[in-house]
Amino acid sequence: MIAIGSDHGGFELKTAVIRLLDERGLAYDDCGTDNGDSVDYPDFGEKVARKVASGAAVKGILVCGTGIGMSIVANKFPHVRAALATDPFMARMAKEHNNANILVLGGRVLDQGLAVEMVATWLDATFEGGRHQGRLDKIAALERELYKP
Ligand code: RB5
Repeated sequence: MIAIGSDHGGFELKTAVIRLLDERGLAYDDCGTDNGDSVDYPDFGEKVARKVASGAAVKGILVCGTGIGMSIVANKFPHVRAALATDPFMARMAKEHNNANILVLGGRVLDQGLAVEMVATWLDATFEGGRHQGRLDKIAALERELYKP
């Protein structure tokens, strides 16, 4: 299951991404927002990142105006590797090298068609493992050190 969320700045792009998920028959949990009225991006970033951090969702997609705010929020959560991508190459690398479990997009900075293509690229890509796994292990070790009770 893919958790997806946006603020008002990302609402239109979220709607377009949901069309892609529907076309592909993928299960998703739309965590809002549900229209273009002004909301606070941390509230929706939290909803999606909590689901990914807990394992309730295997992946997440977050959209705000630039993608910056959602990236900051999502990466507070343990086990979350949220990647802000601005082109298809970054979307592919986010999976192949970083095994990003949340893709973050900026609804006000990306062409909508390109952004949807980036989501498809990220969904279709495969983590390469190997030396990249070692790097993710170092991030996980940092998480254990920094977040231990
Ligand atoms: C909302 O105006 C805007 O600040 C938000 O969508 C996002 O770009 C924050 O990083």
